[in-house]
Amino acid sequence: MRLTKIEKSSHVGLCTIDHECEVVELDAGEAVYIALNRILSKMVIVVPCKNEDPKTIEGVLVGIPNPCFILLVSNSTRTDGQDRYQDEVNMLKRFCAISGRKGLAVHQKDVGAAAALRDAGMPELIGEDHMVRNGKGEGMILGLALAATLCPDLKYVGFMDADSKLSGAPNEYCKAYASGFALYPEDQHVMVRIHWGSKPKERDGVYDFDVREGRSSRVVNEWLNRLLDLLWDETETDGIPSGVSHKKIVSTANAGEHAMTMGLALKLRMAGGYAIEPFHFVDLLERQVQSPTTSYCGSDDGSVSTLSSAGSLEASPVRILQIRTSNPHIHASKGDLHTRAMWKTGLGTIFHHLFPLYSSDSSIDDPLSDSVFKVRQEMMDFVAAEDKKFAQANTTTYNITADANDDVDELLPRPRVYPPLETLDLDLVKKRFTSGTAKTLHRIGFD
Ligand code: GDD
Ligand code: MG
Repeated sequence: MRLTKIEKSSHVGLCTIDHECEVVELDAGEAVYIALNRILSKMVIVVPCKNEDPKTIEGVLVGIPNPCFILLVSNSTRTDGQDRYQDEVNMLKRFCAISGRKGLAVHQKDVGAAAALRDAGMPELIGEDHMVRNGKGEGMILGLALAATLCPDLKYVGFMDADSKLSGAPNEYCKAYASGFALYPEDQHVMVRIHWGSKPKERDGVYDFDVREGRSSRVVNEWLNRLLDLLWDETETDGIPSGVSHKKIVSTANAGEHAMTMGLALKLRMAGGYAIEPFHFVDLLERQVQSPTTSYCGSDDGSVSTLSSAGSLEASPVRILQIRTSNPHIHASKGDLHTRAMWKTGLGTIFHHLFPLYSSDSSIDDPLSDSVFKVRQEMMDFVAAEDKKFAQANTTTYNITADANDDVDELLPRPRVYPPLETLDLDLVKKRFTSGTAKTLHRIGFD
């Protein structure tokens, strides 16, 4: 794979965000192929799934390059009549046998796995039913805990949705992850985020490939960029003359497909449900920027106080790469209500965590906080206007965020935030995972 040169980078504290680069060649010759395979052989790909047809999931596995380790985290339905998880495990076993690979599978409702994470220091992840809560983010955290404890030699972790319909796309995503890591081989804390080549929309059986990004990404990118734009004036930049706008630096606020060095993955606080990807930016900004002000009056946001237990990231440089792929992303369309709940979830992370960090009590004369307060107000107006439009057009309600956080805010949902995995007793987690207490855990191809 060959990428375009990264022309610009912007900094917030010790966090550097590279402006988007693009895939130029999928295959850039033997030397690059060998170098990328070396990185891919140290990478685990976590695939969260929930009730996809096993054939669809298999189509994703087909695209994951052979050197990568595969880890399936399922929240699929298990009933007496139909055990979808068992079908997935059978599929994974077949796939690993044919391709000679190793894999892991676990179910999100594994009581033993939940108890291990609770006892190791993450009781927040466990619901009243004593199992890991529902939510994509929660499944990813479980997958990450398994990867960190059962695959200690692996250096990178990537995430891949299970519902992609073109095997070529996951293949390209994994190579893009590896290419990003190859650019910063010495760095401990690197994240690679994918911007899909396009997000084709199906209308009457015909795909329109001209759609550059989905609605949810468009909304969340825009508001995150509006906030960041206010900060850049104060920060050092590479490749951007002073006075030139950084606008639109973030094109991957909602990157479901992303990868990290394990060092970074263990240090980040993660959010539940679909808040997990936008919250990566939020956590890094929260933790790397010296708060210029106190929270604005009346905020009951808990984010600042939880930072004290957030681990050791504050003193570490972090690099975020954004790569636009050549392949389009075609997946199961879940409809407008789902998309609407998703962008609200993304905006909720900014609203509840970043605005309080930057906007102050109006009695303090601070131009930055005044500007941030204005953007916050505009976001509230935007959401209120969207809510009004929605109420006029619909009578039903739908809220995917309720899975991730029962305490849903009236205007925007507050993300459920979990501590970094490095704050857990990972030795205990490993002991439990290897002692057979996680009954749904399958280790495939290990012997
Ligand atoms: N284990 C597990 N547990 N997996 C889940 C759960 C869960 O509770 N909920 C969803 N998933 C899996 C789905 O099965 C799918 O493979 C993947 O997570 C993504 O979920 P989708 O419901 O298909 O999300 P989407 O396509 O609308 O949104 C994707 O793209 C967004 C960017 O446009 C997601 O990756 C989002 O996180 C991302 O922001
Ligand atoms: Mg999807």
